[in-house]
Amino acid sequence: MADPDALRYTRIPLNNGSGSIPAAGFGTLIPDPLATKKATQAALEVGFRHFDCAERYRNEEAVGDAMQAAFTAGAARREDVFVTTKLWNTNHRPERVKPAFDASLRRLQIDYVDCYIIHTPFAFQPGDEQDPRDERGQVIYDSGVTLLDTWRALERLVDDGQCKSIGLSDVTLDKLREIVTAARIKPAVVQVESHPYLPEWELFSFCREHGIVLLAFAALGHALDPKVLDDPVITAVAERVHKTPAQVALAWAVQRGTAFLTTSTKPDRIRENFEISALPEDAMREIRDGITTNIRFNPVVGTGVPGFIPRAS
Ligand SMILES: NC(=O)c1ccc[n+]([C@@H]2O[C@H](COP(=O)([O-])OP(=O)(O)OC[C@H]3O[C@@H](n4cnc5c(N)ncnc54)[C@H](OP(=O)(O)O)[C@@H]3O)[C@@H](O)[C@H]2O)c1
Repeated sequence: MADPDALRYTRIPLNNGSGSIPAAGFGTLIPDPLATKKATQAALEVGFRHFDCAERYRNEEAVGDAMQAAFTAGAARREDVFVTTKLWNTNHRPERVKPAFDASLRRLQIDYVDCYIIHTPFAFQPGDEQDPRDERGQVIYDSGVTLLDTWRALERLVDDGQCKSIGLSDVTLDKLREIVTAARIKPAVVQVESHPYLPEWELFSFCREHGIVLLAFAALGHALDPKVLDDPVITAVAERVHKTPAQVALAWAVQRGTAFLTTSTKPDRIRENFEISALPEDAMREIRDGITTNIRFNPVVGTGVPGFIPRAS
């Protein structure tokens, strides 16, 4: 029998031939820069080799500092760490893509990213204000650019060689289909909310058909109610296999073939979230068939407004 602990080192091949992505990913959506740096350091120490960043999180520098410290100390090598960052909604105009990308590289203190993702398919009014609003408080969208225009600009980044793969986030299946049909370089990764309460089987099946990695964010349900980690199916499996509910939810994500992102600022939980092990097949089936709750926690997919980032007042 294969070593069940090998699950935590699972890598999924990318469809454009640029290597593979570690299935276990650490998300850096952490408001405080010092907490971001400490959490990133802790995640590197316990073994995470996949980090999800974004210009919108306003903390790329802190992630970069933690990575640089690990590279300098010889604790990790750049080529072993998969770094993703994301283009924000205000930078969808093609002429804004390369400057936004270069600024992310600078803040992250690296000279290439493994994956560059369009954060949401919604273009906002271009400019420095990340959350542009009119006098009534409504988001100001930008109708002067299409998602395909932005995608073409990302394709050029791959041509330039500073970005190994490109992807989309917060897309519906219809939007994804449009881009897959028109793209010269197909999306390698699609990052969407997914957990046992939002398994996204249809989207996942389309991704598999096209060799696209489904990267599940909020893999633990973002600690929101109803709590995935309190679900009786999850807790019963956890008790049976002597793992925590979080480890069960994350193992399920990897074992069904997705990659995941999870976030914590607590060193013990960061370790716990990496130390996943394979589940028996009957547990996989119970989670698939025994959970009927279906909930999307993050409304970003309908508006482009990030649901988990507090709005600046
Ligand atoms: N593309 C997008 O639009 C988008 C949207 C949202 C998120 N993301 C990405 O996905 C990443 C992960 O999302 P997420 O933060 O929602 O992930 P998550 O892991 O589902 O939720 C994080 C929450 O769960 C708690 N937690 C973590 N580990 C735990 C454990 N072992 N037991 C109990 N509670 C635990 C954390 O609290 P403590 O810190 O107190 O441990 C935190 O409140 C983000 O950092 C970001 O990179 C992308």
